[in-house]
Amino acid sequence: MYKKAVALTIVIIFCSVAISPALGTTISPSIKISHTSKITKDPKTTNLDYPLPPPITTDMVLEESIFRRKSVRNFTEDPVTDEELSTILWAAYGLREDNTSTVPGVGGINGAVIYVLKEDAAYTYDPDNHSLVFYKAGDWRDIVGWQYYAPVQLGMCYDTNKIDRNLAGAEIGMIDQNIQFMTNALGLGSVVTAQTPSAIDPLGIPENQEGFTVMPIGHPDYDSYDFVYRPFWISLLPRIKNSNMTLSTALEEREESISFGDTISRFEMSQMIWATSGFSLYRDKSDEKYQKGRHRTIPSAKGYYPLDIYAVKNKAIYYYEPNILTKIFPVPVDFVGFPIVTYLKPVKIGNHKLTIADACSEPSIADAPMIILFILDREKTRPPGSPDLSADSLLHIWYHDAGAGAHNVMLDAAAWGLKANIYEIEDQQAIIDLLKLNEDITIPILAVPIGR
Ligand SMILES: Cc1cc2nc3c(=O)[nH]c(=O)nc-3n(C[C@H](O)[C@H](O)[C@H](O)COP(=O)(O)O)c2cc1C
Repeated sequence: MYKKAVALTIVIIFCSVAISPALGTTISPSIKISHTSKITKDPKTTNLDYPLPPPITTDMVLEESIFRRKSVRNFTEDPVTDEELSTILWAAYGLREDNTSTVPGVGGINGAVIYVLKEDAAYTYDPDNHSLVFYKAGDWRDIVGWQYYAPVQLGMCYDTNKIDRNLAGAEIGMIDQNIQFMTNALGLGSVVTAQTPSAIDPLGIPENQEGFTVMPIGHPDYDSYDFVYRPFWISLLPRIKNSNMTLSTALEEREESISFGDTISRFEMSQMIWATSGFSLYRDKSDEKYQKGRHRTIPSAKGYYPLDIYAVKNKAIYYYEPNILTKIFPVPVDFVGFPIVTYLKPVKIGNHKLTIADACSEPSIADAPMIILFILDREKTRPPGSPDLSADSLLHIWYHDAGAGAHNVMLDAAAWGLKANIYEIEDQQAIIDLLKLNEDITIPILAVPIGR
């Protein structure tokens, strides 16, 4: 049995190395943008405010921006234009045509505040007027964003009167995801950074606010988005496809639903589960210091990726394995174009959607043909020989992963004509009991129902 497994693995590696170059196509980073008058309100014009021009819409297809999501850490001194900044901030946390936020928050709560650090001063972003509001004079970029130099630094904070630290982590995960997608679509780059105490503290933010992530924004200092299309997918799950929807449209169209039709196709199931944290069909060929071969659909602190994802369907609950090869091999398996060997493993037979609906205090969840669960395995936040990030005070870091993954599902659901929503799992013990998980190391975080 063991010999067979080894032989099969060798065959897979051989096929991967031999076949992948034939499948590979270099991706040209062609980016087209067009102007739009999405923001119709007049910006405030006080002396202290800094009105932003209307954001531009990009024609990058949503999945393309997910495939290309990566951390960029080195930037040139070329400035970020006001138009680019406007577009990134609109994607991050702006208002859509219907006056709702580009970020749903969890349970509809939006408690984030974005600080924008430019050469001349620090500002906060005002979504209502799509403008920058003066906060403090001086150049704070290198003080707050001490890890990486960039022409603009964005500091994501939250209002402690509106939202608790963990849910703020999830909301900021969504905001940061939009920032990475939009910088990427504009040919710019960004990376999520976080440390304790928060890097923004020296700026002196109000007492009712807490800082979390800081993201440098700028032009990559070499060809960071140098990808090759390597869709080598070994799975019974249908392979991921590009939709026809652009990132800008998905941000505008994404909606939270409380009613669901009762079917979802195998392809849709595969696409939605992949959006949570799956591997890109692109291989990163750039010289980026920490480049990962194949990136995943979300960032994760230290690259730990400690969330377990489950798909709850009518007849069973399944565990999602994004790529088993990353567990078998101690080296970055995708480095030479290894395949994505992905599957769903049944872990519990029967229809358990009512239990999940009860755990989230939201009856409509039980009608959805699929519910995705985001569950933290704390053991994975303290891998042997690496920094231990399993403390209670750091839990919001992992809520960030859950928020980013759930938001991806919301966007991709919109792109495929599906509906979804994001709920906090309130009764965590009910889910631990349902899945027979170890309560000492498990924290069920979010449930995302998806349907038509
Ligand atoms: C909450 C959070 C905090 C992070 N903090 C840092 C950081 O302080 N410095 C850094 O270089 N990268 C940081 N990262 C980026 C991860 O290292 C990166 O996402 C991971 O290694 C995967 O690489 P990729 O994003 O290029 O695919 C952070 C990511 C997250 C989600």
